[in-house]
Amino acid sequence: MCEQENGPDPRSGDAVAERKRDLRERLLTARRHTPQEVLDARAASLGAHVLAIPEVAFAGTVAAYVSMGTEPPTDAVLAALHARGAHVLLPVLLGDNDLDWAPYEGPDSLRDAGRGLREPATTPLGVDAVASADVVLVPGLAVSADGVRMGRGGGSYDRALARVGENALRVLLLHPDEIDQDVPAAPHDQRVDVVVSAEGVVRFTA
Ligand SMILES: Nc1ncnc2c1ncn2[C@@H]1O[C@H](COP(=O)(O)OP(=O)(O)OP(=O)(O)O)[C@@H](O)[C@H]1O
Ligand SMILES: [Mg+2]
Repeated sequence: MCEQENGPDPRSGDAVAERKRDLRERLLTARRHTPQEVLDARAASLGAHVLAIPEVAFAGTVAAYVSMGTEPPTDAVLAALHARGAHVLLPVLLGDNDLDWAPYEGPDSLRDAGRGLREPATTPLGVDAVASADVVLVPGLAVSADGVRMGRGGGSYDRALARVGENALRVLLLHPDEIDQDVPAAPHDQRVDVVVSAEGVVRFTA
């Protein structure tokens, strides 16, 4: 049989999964090759852009995450939200890659959860707690020109975002060169409303 007959059908879910794998590999390699001083230089402007979004500035409850490795850092954003009295929820990764949510009680309240993850040590409130958020800050690796998000491949945020209220603002934090990518989309892939990088804020229209 020729390769064309054996290759993935470009219309099938397998082809989407394969293209996502390739794109993830390319973007993760780019992150690994970004000098630490460049990552550090982006941190302050990213945080300032996030906190200046009006919905973030006025949110009563923000579901967020603790960044790891070469992800755009969230520590300063979490601390600032907590300091101004916002209710901040953080994810707790479950065995099936779904996300539970627990309250953030300040920088000293996180524990090492292994594999570079830091999680809240507080009591989890359940997978549906994310529905109480006015704003959801999510990690990822890429976003398309119309707001389709791609993450690391666990499907965690596709599940979590499906539980978020329809008036909540979904905000993705990325590095500048990860925006406007040709993201392969499957029906389960969730969109975001806004992407923020060190270079600024982009809002997607519905
Ligand atoms: N609602 C869901 N329930 C169960 N599995 C799901 C759900 N949504 C997505 N998945 C599964 O998760 C797997 C990974 O999905 P996908 O490639 O879209 O990950 P991702 O969006 O990059 O990951 P993440 O959301 O963790 O950042 C797929 O096998 C997909 O079927
Ligand atoms: Mg997805």
